[in-house]
Amino acid sequence: MALDTPTVALADASLLRDQAFIAGTWSDADDGRTFAVTNPATGEPIAHVPRMSSAETRRAIEAADAAFIAWRDRPAAERAALLRRIRDLMIEHRDDLALLLTLEQGKPLAESQAEIAYAAAFLEWFGEEAKRIYGDTIPSPQPGRRILVTKHPIGVCGGITPWNFPSAMVTRKAAPALAVGCTMVLKPAEQTPLSALAIAALAERAGLPPGVLSIVTGDADDAPAIGRELTDNPIVRKLGFTGSNEVGKILMRQCADQVKNVSLELGGNAPFIVFEDADLDEALAGLALCKFRNSGQTCITANRILIHDKIYDEFVERFTHAAGQLIVGPGTSPESSVGPLIDAQALEKVQRHVADARDHGAHLLLGGEAHERGGTYFAPTVLNEVSPEAAMSREETFGPVAGLQRFSDEDEAIRSANDTPYGLAAYFYSRDIGRVVRVSEQLEYGILGINTGFISVEVAPFGGVKESGIGREGSKYGVDDWIETRYLALGGIGR
Ligand code: SIN
Repeated sequence: MALDTPTVALADASLLRDQAFIAGTWSDADDGRTFAVTNPATGEPIAHVPRMSSAETRRAIEAADAAFIAWRDRPAAERAALLRRIRDLMIEHRDDLALLLTLEQGKPLAESQAEIAYAAAFLEWFGEEAKRIYGDTIPSPQPGRRILVTKHPIGVCGGITPWNFPSAMVTRKAAPALAVGCTMVLKPAEQTPLSALAIAALAERAGLPPGVLSIVTGDADDAPAIGRELTDNPIVRKLGFTGSNEVGKILMRQCADQVKNVSLELGGNAPFIVFEDADLDEALAGLALCKFRNSGQTCITANRILIHDKIYDEFVERFTHAAGQLIVGPGTSPESSVGPLIDAQALEKVQRHVADARDHGAHLLLGGEAHERGGTYFAPTVLNEVSPEAAMSREETFGPVAGLQRFSDEDEAIRSANDTPYGLAAYFYSRDIGRVVRVSEQLEYGILGINTGFISVEVAPFGGVKESGIGREGSKYGVDDWIETRYLALGGIGR
């Protein structure tokens, strides 16, 4: 197999797969159709992968069903050892996986390297956690009876993952599911299937039994049929999804017909608040990381930046200067700090948000337009005095655009931070311990970054409140999303 782009080669060429992985077999679409996976840095195709639909998804589900009992019945330590082998292979092939990720997604190589380590960490973490899934005994109120609580894998699960973290979102779903004894059929985003297929190749190499993890590929037009099969097929007992609110709500509605369990990690609209007592150096560094990581294409990126009046001018000046130092370029170039946006639609949305903010009175301090490199590159942008009514204050921009707003007291900051239907992540900077406690208690978010702009780690529970989702991924709590609790009422014991 060879890359379509002749100038790029992997050390292990077999990690580039142009077939889906169903029931342990590398497979083409039934009708042989394929679609192109393109490099957002160049617009050129990297590979062509199968356009699958409901029939192939159904076969993957049936294979997951056939594999389930044997997988469930293996000791947790054996499942953990297998996941650990996949993790070790990911680390061994980290350079190739990172390159593949950058080629299909666009982020700088250093970020891809970090994502591979993050992705691999879920395999280790959940393998270990699954060894510690304990039940309970409950004192019975009646004589001669015992009450036991036991934990069980939900069964066959579906996973649908996004393009912004093409490796980490795969393992953040598949690792806990497989670790506890579920089997999974996963559809990666059409923009970035190659990272998921490479993980499947390593899983096969590690000895994962056929059917335990299948990867079904399809393009944007195929996604509704694949999603439908995952939600409507009664064999599937649970769906885990990361992506847009719009699609999440459709999938949740579809799952409702069979009362199918769902975990949803949907959009955010993260506030980033800097109080007047903050350490400004720390706040500036935290904001730059949180805002420009992955070109702003994360669900937890700072989307509404609220700065206290007393420090506003200094903060804006220093932040604009720092943003002006960022280097826009292809992710494969070591000096690039901001890669291209994923596609033309993303570029159009970012342009629309900037124009709308300016129409609502914001002043442009930096960037504001497509970068001179062309394609889907967008210049790092800073906008001043952004109105709370602007589109970028109401919904995710998903681009390297920082919109700053002023506030003058704590209550006002909390009110504006909570003025959204979303509740994934929020950030604030303050050195006043009383304020830290007060503000933490009032912000309506699943994740709070306090004096830090970096919150992603496998040992902590990731997930939102309000319309940002249901369930948690990562940490010991992430196990709960893939298991069910049973209660055994034992009678006839005699005493
Ligand atoms: C996301 O943006 O959905 C995931 C971000 C992360 O895990 O860092």
